Amino acid sequence: MILDGREAASAVYETLKQQISELSTPPKLTVFLVWDDTSSLSYIAQKRKYALYVWMDFELIRLSAETDEASLLAHMDEKNSDTTVSGIIVQLPLPKHIDTKRVIAHIDHDKDVDGFTPASIGNLFLGEDRYVSCTPKGIMRLLAHYDKEVEGKRVAILGRSNIVGKPLALLMINAGATVTSCNSRTQDVAEITRWADIVVLAMGQPKFLKPEMVREGATIIDVGFKKVNGTIFWDADYDLLKSRTDITPVPGGVGAMTVAMLLENTLLAFKRTHQYS
Ligand code: GUN
Repeated sequence: MILDGREAASAVYETLKQQISELSTPPKLTVFLVWDDTSSLSYIAQKRKYALYVWMDFELIRLSAETDEASLLAHMDEKNSDTTVSGIIVQLPLPKHIDTKRVIAHIDHDKDVDGFTPASIGNLFLGEDRYVSCTPKGIMRLLAHYDKEVEGKRVAILGRSNIVGKPLALLMINAGATVTSCNSRTQDVAEITRWADIVVLAMGQPKFLKPEMVREGATIIDVGFKKVNGTIFWDADYDLLKSRTDITPVPGGVGAMTVAMLLENTLLAFKRTHQYS
């Protein structure tokens, strides 16, 4: 089976559109962009496209790459206290002269629709989901869309980033899965991937996962990629795996869900600040 993220995302967009059409004012997503590398620009284009599609307001605050941290924080203060703004994200990566941790912590945690602030991570740790970061949330939703049980399942997560691997491990633990978190130093990874019912790839190692490394019928979620000479390679050897596993296609896998979850979080933020149930 192909786990089609575009299909699952379009179901989310139709629900969002319906819910937003019933509001008296639309939610607004504000995006800060300080370093306009081509990947960031293409991610932001997707966020904008789908925000407008679901009738959400979208605001891009584009600052020059020379902007210093203090002025970025001052711009953020303005949006933190602007009651017309429901959600705020700061597109990563930031230029090297800016302390990413300090900037993320500066987002009002009621508007932290990326789920990156220490407050959001703390809530996730405690199992009180508030704003869960969008790629891990998108993975959980994609599995649910295809009626894939997580409770009691064995899950191998390859990659331990703050954006994907670590929050996903918490979500999986909270959902009752048995989780093994792997990193570049992990010994005998193939033994762990063969043990798993669900394998999540988030490393950036081209075609790392081969058929002999997984059990027949396993579920493979691939969010890891690396650009080599302008071509994107994914962590799973998709062509070899697709006939014997349930797998996300690339493109059209979890990426589509990430944007959908960002907009869902923004609607959630709007509803919280406007006292909806
Ligand atoms: N850069 C790459 N992915 C993301 C994301 O999900 N959120 C933000 N803010 N920056 C990113």
